[in-house]
Amino acid sequence: MNRMMIYVMAVLLTSWAGAKPVTGDFLLQTKQSTMAFHKSGDSWQMVHYGTKIESAPDAAALAWSGWVGGNFFGHRKPDTYSVYGSDNDRRGTMNKFGGLAVIHADGVTSTDLKAVSVKTVDDKPGMTHLVFELKDRVYPFFVIQHFRAAVASDVIETWVEIRHDESASVKLIRMDSVALVFPLMAKEYHLLSLTGQWSSEGQLVEAPVALGQTVSMTSRSGVRSAFGNNPSFMLSVGERATETAGRVIGGALAWSGAWSISIQHDYVNALAINAGSDTGNGAYTLDAGKPLVTPKMALTYSASGKGQISRNLHRWARDHQLRDGHMLRPVLLNSWEGAYFDFDESTLTDMMDGVKELGGEMFVVDDGWFARGKYARDDDKRGLGDWVVNDKKLPKGLGSLAEEAKKRDLKFGIWVEPEMANTTSELVDSHPEWVLREKTRPLRQGRGGTQVVLDMTNPALRDNIYNQMDAMITSIPGLAYIKWDANADFMNPGSTYLGADRQPNLWYDYTAGLYDLLARLRVKYPDILMKACSSGGGHMDYGFLRYADEFWTSDDTDARQRVFIQWGAGHFYPACAMAAHVTGVPNHQTHRSTPLKFRFDVAMSGRLGFELHPKTMAPEEVVFAKQAVKDYKRLRPVIQQGDLYRLVSPWTHTYASLMYVNDDKSQAVVFLYGLNRPVMSDYPAPLMLQGLDINKRYRLTEINKEKRGHCRVSGKTLSGAALMGMGVPVKLSGDYDSAVFELVAE
Ligand code: DGJ
Repeated sequence: MNRMMIYVMAVLLTSWAGAKPVTGDFLLQTKQSTMAFHKSGDSWQMVHYGTKIESAPDAAALAWSGWVGGNFFGHRKPDTYSVYGSDNDRRGTMNKFGGLAVIHADGVTSTDLKAVSVKTVDDKPGMTHLVFELKDRVYPFFVIQHFRAAVASDVIETWVEIRHDESASVKLIRMDSVALVFPLMAKEYHLLSLTGQWSSEGQLVEAPVALGQTVSMTSRSGVRSAFGNNPSFMLSVGERATETAGRVIGGALAWSGAWSISIQHDYVNALAINAGSDTGNGAYTLDAGKPLVTPKMALTYSASGKGQISRNLHRWARDHQLRDGHMLRPVLLNSWEGAYFDFDESTLTDMMDGVKELGGEMFVVDDGWFARGKYARDDDKRGLGDWVVNDKKLPKGLGSLAEEAKKRDLKFGIWVEPEMANTTSELVDSHPEWVLREKTRPLRQGRGGTQVVLDMTNPALRDNIYNQMDAMITSIPGLAYIKWDANADFMNPGSTYLGADRQPNLWYDYTAGLYDLLARLRVKYPDILMKACSSGGGHMDYGFLRYADEFWTSDDTDARQRVFIQWGAGHFYPACAMAAHVTGVPNHQTHRSTPLKFRFDVAMSGRLGFELHPKTMAPEEVVFAKQAVKDYKRLRPVIQQGDLYRLVSPWTHTYASLMYVNDDKSQAVVFLYGLNRPVMSDYPAPLMLQGLDINKRYRLTEINKEKRGHCRVSGKTLSGAALMGMGVPVKLSGDYDSAVFELVAE
């Protein structure tokens, strides 16, 4: 049994501790929402998802659980896991919403599940975990469906485990994590999601899902799961919601491989949400007795607009999904834009001196430190796969660099790209079979003309990479941080490890193999912080973030672009995980120059860091930066752990504003960014603050201030009621003027 299977079995066995049977209608409760389940014979339906309801009989009485549509063209409400084929009373209709579609061992293509048992099981404190054990009425084919409510954050996680004991393997044409048909909820729906690609992640798009339409988002990159579409959405139920008003369902799929999410507004106004690991490139072959666990989908509901959806997901992420969501993240300097491949030990120690002077806490060496001889990594054409120090560049080794960091009281981190290799590497020379390739086609090679993706389905490859990582980590005493990068898609989607009949399994098994590798490293090195990076924001997904503490938001480090990118990312991902670095000007991606203050003000709304050589900073810039870092460290508990309120959108205004408020509403930080402002008389309206306590009085102070102030009430103490009801008067002058205000309750 491989490790993945042991993990799966452990999940299956441990899930049942403290099981309590559920025999009738059941309300799965969070603090503010209810998902209601109705029992109908031996099947169960989800009959309400929304505002909190305390009475199960009320939910059953009001529920839409039967025939919908009034005539022959209506349909029955499918069960909690909607599968191709079943109809819960067999009255001549087929379920058209199936998120599971199976070709059974004998060739039959429909599935018809009944509930064998339903129970709640013990879980972490603050979680209510409901389990449906389902079985096909004819075949030894089983689905265990989980709904796990994170009470405090109003999030319900859902996923399934699929297993069978049929006479031969079955084909899973679809294997969604969630396949829920919602009761008739509204006559219109509007879908918000993030699109984008390299250097333009997090672009907000929103459009109606018209009657009869199915809108799908998908990633078939195999690796860069969050390019094209991010695996997340917000759906307005009824009129298009605003930040503060309207019914909204939010979702985020925790998967770093190929995925799909579809929203169907069906012809009788019902709503179907399907999401899971994508099988669009071929059915998954599942052998008897081998369970497959689908990725977790986080669902959340708000009756008060989109802002609350973000806050729910952020809280859930910090409490339950990020590896360590409550740790305060250090201020670090990453070497990439300051040195690229061109460094030696003294370049790096100079950078350490610089970041130390600025008040930073960690130094990270990016790409270029590894591989030897003819494969030494001096550019992106060679060396990936050989995780030994480049002794030409760093003759004293990594341990010595870590020692240099320690001397300066800095933590030390390193960049790796373990899923990839160059064909110009010792690794590929000795194991060409570990490269993903299609045996009859020429090998496509990516970055540098030589980059390929390694076959994470192969346990031997995983062992090799694990051992290389392990040796590297142990050679660096006190290593505190790993930036895990991945800069390619499946260019050659074929595996020499999987049999000819299993090639489509690559799309799921690659990611499962990657998680197996990450989990092993995490067990051995639980305290190392990890950043998920994939050509920038390609791993802005909650699957990777189970193992990582933060993500690289984008290679686009232009602060003006970052206002938009971070605005989008913040819809689903919390500030503590959003790496935001101050870089040099002109910006390396856009060639735009913005003031240092603007770059700081933007980066300080996430996890602040640097991506430059500090020696390029002028003395007065160093003075400003030192004070800003000092203030950030003081304010980071509010920024990294607080609730986000989006006040003014950059997508609709020539300026933008957002704020964070801590849990007991005693502290807040407000950010204001001027963008390209065509007319000087375009004064910002007063900032209508949110999330404060109406009964508290707050002292407002502008920080990161240069000569000019931006608010005439800076230094005054004002009530939460007035700050939210009348707004804070602010002014901006010219492009890229910006301000940061601190509020402290007195
Ligand atoms: C892509 C990442 O997004 C960058 O930050 C940098 O680490 C490069 N890869 C290094 O090759």
